[in-house]
Amino acid sequence: MRNQINRRNLLQLAGAGLATAAVARPARADASGRIRCALLGAGGRGTSFLPVLAGFQDVDITAICDVKEAHLTRAQGIVEKAGRPRPVGFGEKGPDDYKRMLESKDLDAVIIATPMQDHARMSIDALNAGKAVLSEVAAAMTMDECGGLVRAVERTGKLYMLAENVCYYRDVLAILNMVKAGLFGGLTYAECGYVHDCRFIDFNPDGSLTWRGELARDHIGNLYPTHPIGPVAQWMDINRSDRFVSLVSMTSRSTGMARWAAKKFGPDSPQAKATYKKGDTTSTLIQTAKGAVIHLRYDTASPHPLHTTTPFQLQGDAGAYNSSTNEIWFESRSEWERWEPFSKYAAEFDHPLWKKWEKEASRTSHGGADFFVLREFFDALRSGGKSPIDVYDAVTWSCIIPLSAESIRKGNAPVAIPDFKRKA
Ligand SMILES: NC(=O)c1ccc[n+]([C@@H]2O[C@H](COP(=O)([O-])OP(=O)(O)OC[C@H]3O[C@@H](n4cnc5c(N)ncnc54)[C@H](O)[C@@H]3O)[C@@H](O)[C@H]2O)c1
Repeated sequence: MRNQINRRNLLQLAGAGLATAAVARPARADASGRIRCALLGAGGRGTSFLPVLAGFQDVDITAICDVKEAHLTRAQGIVEKAGRPRPVGFGEKGPDDYKRMLESKDLDAVIIATPMQDHARMSIDALNAGKAVLSEVAAAMTMDECGGLVRAVERTGKLYMLAENVCYYRDVLAILNMVKAGLFGGLTYAECGYVHDCRFIDFNPDGSLTWRGELARDHIGNLYPTHPIGPVAQWMDINRSDRFVSLVSMTSRSTGMARWAAKKFGPDSPQAKATYKKGDTTSTLIQTAKGAVIHLRYDTASPHPLHTTTPFQLQGDAGAYNSSTNEIWFESRSEWERWEPFSKYAAEFDHPLWKKWEKEASRTSHGGADFFVLREFFDALRSGGKSPIDVYDAVTWSCIIPLSAESIRKGNAPVAIPDFKRKA
């Protein structure tokens, strides 16, 4: 049974930082300038960070926590094999054992890669314990969690970053440069989505549901919005010169999970006969204050050949981009009604981060994006600088989870998206 978080204990957790707020300072590193970092959750995602982390000579992986012993020892082994000291292990005392790890004085930062349902609670605990947090996506799953996370960051003054790696894809950053250079004119529309048949990770081999499967069984709405909405929000300068105002969401019927289960476990299996609340496809329309519209799709239960898991289209009043065909068009540079290959502009608008770190990044997972997430986090921690993807962006992108569900429950009604930056 998962740990449930409710409004009261969330507010208590967030408020716990208040007493230390006056003295809290960003934890940066030890006297030698090294950063001591822990990994919380060493499953598929957490483990994929380890080779990158082990390659950072200015970062020590001092502790790892996972409730599954096999995952913990596998992760410790990866670090050792990379020639780094074996991290101290936590997790054998159960789901709250991470709190023992957070008590460690020799720890500056925690990377949280546990199931999504636990991110907000664990992030708030880590912030209150004086640690910087790099949280996997999404940041939170309820509006109370979103508010609690914002308050915890504000009260502790600690660094919080969302590990939204798609924002660091090379093409995504090049598009950001083109937007900033004015090539698209004013942005009016974006179409984006997470469209990835993930049913193979919804069930364990014995037929029980993984945490992703539990989400599909118990929730409606867009359950994984940050990969597509993160880049679009950055292109549209959301939470700076524009902001999300409202959304409307619709969902299809649910057939994909049961069909998959019937093939895997038999048509008469309990898994095939179970009810899954999550519709196969959920579409959300978001309106921004400056009058742009975003169509955000979420589908992890429909079979289809895969070009990309995160397709993007961007429309401005002077340019357009389509990532699926890898084509671009600019009124100022292209022939009328004639798409051009994105590659024609890629080098000119390559982002400085990629120019600087191409060699190191290209050896790492997710096309190098994971390298930048980690590098940017540690650089901000060391310098005491701003979070590259701060808590306001994190919750603005993540609140689509509860708000899309609310819209669907209310018969596709418009739902306001709060301005988390506005002080109460
Ligand atoms: N950014 C990306 O590209 C990307 C890709 C995959 C997953 N993710 C995110 O990463 C997170 C983890 O996904 P995953 O695929 O690795 O899942 P996973 O199930 O493979 O791993 C989760 C791990 O957390 C451990 N865990 C669960 N509860 C714990 C607790 N209380 N204390 C300590 N350990 C605990 C589990 O034993 C498991 O090893 C998810 O939030 C997911 O959304 C992001």
